[in-house]
Amino acid sequence: MSDLGYSPGLEGVVAGTSAVSRIDLDRNRLIIRGYDLVDLTHCSFEEVAHLLLCGVLPDSIQLDAFNSQLRAERSLPTEVIALMRRAPGQAHPMALLRTAVSALGLHDPEAGDNTPEANLRKSIRLLAKIPLVVAYGHHLAAGQDPVQARAELDHAANLLYMISGTEPAPEEAEAMKVSQILYAEHGYNASAFAARVTASTLSDMHAAVTTAIGTLAGPLHGGANEQAMAMLLEIGGPEGAERWVLEALAAKKKIMGFGHREYKDGDSRVPSMVAVADRLAARTGEATWVETAGVVAAVMIREKGIFPNVDFPSAYAYYMMGIPIPLYTPIFVASRVAGWAAHVMEQGEGNRLIRPEHLYTGPEGRKVVPLAER
Ligand code: COA
Repeated sequence: MSDLGYSPGLEGVVAGTSAVSRIDLDRNRLIIRGYDLVDLTHCSFEEVAHLLLCGVLPDSIQLDAFNSQLRAERSLPTEVIALMRRAPGQAHPMALLRTAVSALGLHDPEAGDNTPEANLRKSIRLLAKIPLVVAYGHHLAAGQDPVQARAELDHAANLLYMISGTEPAPEEAEAMKVSQILYAEHGYNASAFAARVTASTLSDMHAAVTTAIGTLAGPLHGGANEQAMAMLLEIGGPEGAERWVLEALAAKKKIMGFGHREYKDGDSRVPSMVAVADRLAARTGEATWVETAGVVAAVMIREKGIFPNVDFPSAYAYYMMGIPIPLYTPIFVASRVAGWAAHVMEQGEGNRLIRPEHLYTGPEGRKVVPLAER
């Protein structure tokens, strides 16, 4: 950080306060509203979403009510489906999701109402509808009819079901549930911060979530899970993995799914997600990706001291579940929207416009020459 308080990428800058989550670097833990995230992986995704949106783990009556609200919102306006149908088939699902969430705002009856009560209802609607956008978009782009949501399936199982069209095995539903919990919230990350910036102008929930989706899409943030799997496929298997990584590092390439702004000794979410991937590999008997990933991680730690982040095991876990790669980041959104919405609502409490300073590096004192003389 410079004497003027400037830090590129805002590294080390405290940009606000939050009671939603914190990274405990001393114990290498992510704490969500006071709970250790690893402990929360034993809850349902819906319990964790309730914790994020309402501030408390629900009792069984609250959970039933929350589940009913979520399931009642599992539909999309016909206008949004029509919009998605007209999207170019080659559009990336994240671009389609960003557009569809913005369009959901056009049709939300409380779009411009920023009261806490309306914001909570809109959060629940977005949490329920985003999985449908992800899955419908996938099928519509392939010229297929979307798979309808099934009311008896929970958030994670229904997401998998709507994507694949077949009811997931219990192990797969559990894997997706844990992945959704691990992805749900992570402090002042780029997309949550972007959502807060938008909310701080008193813009609305859909605008803030649309902002966040655009921010998450980049490969330095959520887009890394897709890039990580593309890399593993290019490596092809454990045999050539060490040489591939060494050559990539020698060429100064970034290894996607590695490194983190906050964690320098390993991402606290990784062990839980690695365990999920290991269980999926044991179930299918296909160890290629677990073994390849193991070699890549070992070489990265040995050569650079850089550890995998959660996007790395998520990538090959999703691959083992047969999920198309372009859906990995949208699936991240289906969970992270709970964290974003919690931040947007928190930003609304005692809001102050987020408007930082910058150091001007451009020229001074230029004279405007009339157009005809330039
Ligand atoms: N592969 C290779 N080198 C990496 C690396 C990676 N994934 N991540 C960081 N490094 C190197 C940088 O090249 C830099 O080296 P240098 O000092 O020789 O220039 C050093 O480690 C510090 O990296 P830096 O980019 O300054 O760290 P950061 O805190 O700004 O960036 C990330 C964090 C996440 C953007 C970065 O690690 C990255 O790009 N990772 C890959 C994308 C990814 O997985 N994103 C998901 C994050 S959850």
